[in-house]
Amino acid sequence: MKKHLIFFFLLATLIACKDHTPSTHTKTHGLITQQAMVVSAREEASQIGSDILKKGGNAFDALAATELALAVAFPYAGNIGGGGFMVYRLNSGEIGALDYREKAPLAASKNMYLDENGNVVPNKSTLGALAVGVPGSIAGIFETHQRFGTLPLEDIVQPAIDLAKRGVVVTEKQEQRIKKYQPLFREVNKDSIIFDEIWKTGDTIYYSALASTLERIKINGPSEFYEGETAKKLVDFINENGGSFTMEDLKKYKPVWRKPIVFKYDSLKIISMSPPSSGGVCLAQIMKMIEPYDIHEYGHNSKKTIQVIVEAERRAFADRSYYLGDPDFVDIPLDKITDSLYLQNRMDTFTFTKPTPSTDISHGSIEFSESNETTHFSIIDSFGNAVSVTTTINGAYGSKLYCSELGFFLNNEMDDFSSKPGEPNMFGLVGAEANNIAPEKRMLSSMTPTIVEKNGMLYMVLGTRGGSTIITSVLQTILNVHEFGMSMQDAVDAPRFHHQWLPDVVQFEEKKFSNTFKREIEDLGYQVTDYDNPSLGNMVGILVLKNGHLEGGADKRGDDTAVGF
Ligand code: GLY
Repeated sequence: MKKHLIFFFLLATLIACKDHTPSTHTKTHGLITQQAMVVSAREEASQIGSDILKKGGNAFDALAATELALAVAFPYAGNIGGGGFMVYRLNSGEIGALDYREKAPLAASKNMYLDENGNVVPNKSTLGALAVGVPGSIAGIFETHQRFGTLPLEDIVQPAIDLAKRGVVVTEKQEQRIKKYQPLFREVNKDSIIFDEIWKTGDTIYYSALASTLERIKINGPSEFYEGETAKKLVDFINENGGSFTMEDLKKYKPVWRKPIVFKYDSLKIISMSPPSSGGVCLAQIMKMIEPYDIHEYGHNSKKTIQVIVEAERRAFADRSYYLGDPDFVDIPLDKITDSLYLQNRMDTFTFTKPTPSTDISHGSIEFSESNETTHFSIIDSFGNAVSVTTTINGAYGSKLYCSELGFFLNNEMDDFSSKPGEPNMFGLVGAEANNIAPEKRMLSSMTPTIVEKNGMLYMVLGTRGGSTIITSVLQTILNVHEFGMSMQDAVDAPRFHHQWLPDVVQFEEKKFSNTFKREIEDLGYQVTDYDNPSLGNMVGILVLKNGHLEGGADKRGDDTAVGF
């Protein structure tokens, strides 16, 4: 006990001395505005959100407008056929979170993706109607607006309808993405879909079916999607394509207000998403494990900094696999696994002389791989309210199943469950049971919409796409600003790396780290690989500058754009 008290005294002293505002290197700044900003994956969506703010709407009005606009302009991940998470901070300092994650349909069962020999059937949880979870996006958007919105809903839905009718210009990146996934669109869909056509950069795609769906939602509200004509068409479509949805599945869907994960790191208070996302818990674990180390002194992306972060990530992801799932179905020992002493003990086995093999880290038993194609947007309004939203249909264009009549892709979020949990690991622990499939359960996520306060004031609003790399990208971006003094733009653009316990390999963003440097990491005993799938995250951030102005960080890896005033 005494040893622990001394340890905490030393830790507190170290942390107190460790608050940097360094800024020696030349900075590239993103868009700087005085009052309000929206940063999202497409300029059209950021512009629509910003226009709502300019009209006097608040961050929640802009959230609804931006998310619907992304469903039109960014079908790759923006959606009304998926789900998401929102973390907010009001100008009063009040914080909260909304979970509008998809749910397993009532017909779902634990072994639904296994064959008679108990093996996972390839693609069954990723392609087509059986991969689809009950969508939560429309419920989430309306729930948020009902609680916090100020402008009439018609005003908020209309810009997305207009955009769908006006059409969206294909970007170079979009052209490549559509081309890449066309073989799967053809494999999954019985009839040809709009995305089967040859689309070139500069072409305009018109989304008239989606415009009609949104028009009905504007008139009838969320019940249109969950009980009305849209619901009936959706259920019929999924069942005609081999899925198993009922009207009851849709009718029963409800978003849930959750208590966000809140923790301290130096002078920062981090507010992030709680389960059923693993994002906030893993972020808290990793940051608390690295806090005692002076990574500012070690330097940005130096070998020692990478070692500390990788070892903390390894340990956090092992816990993730074992403990985390839908809190409405499993008991998660949140206090225990985010406790500082527990986390310091987790790092007891770390030394700078060699890696800790992942096989020596207890908990969990399976590798997991998550799809990358989520999307994030960050908003600060002129009243000082902030929202951080990550939304997804899981894979690129979700399940690839496109309902032409309604005008949107369906998610393949069922793949975020553990299809085959229960294999004991070398410690005899049974991993991933927490995330097994059950009717009406929410699948575990890595989405990490996050808001950061500094000295009690709003400081950063950030998040990204990227499956399991979401957590480590958000982490590195916060550290880039706080420990290494970067601007928001530099922080989101900086080269990133990733470790997730299994596979036991450090993944470096392709072409961003020299071969010599990667060899040096290998010489320390780590396995190293390049990450190019397609990029390690797409960070979206807003930083509140010392003079109160806002700086947007729109990741150059995507078409992301900041718009504000
Ligand atoms: N489907 C990606 C995630 O939820 O983390």
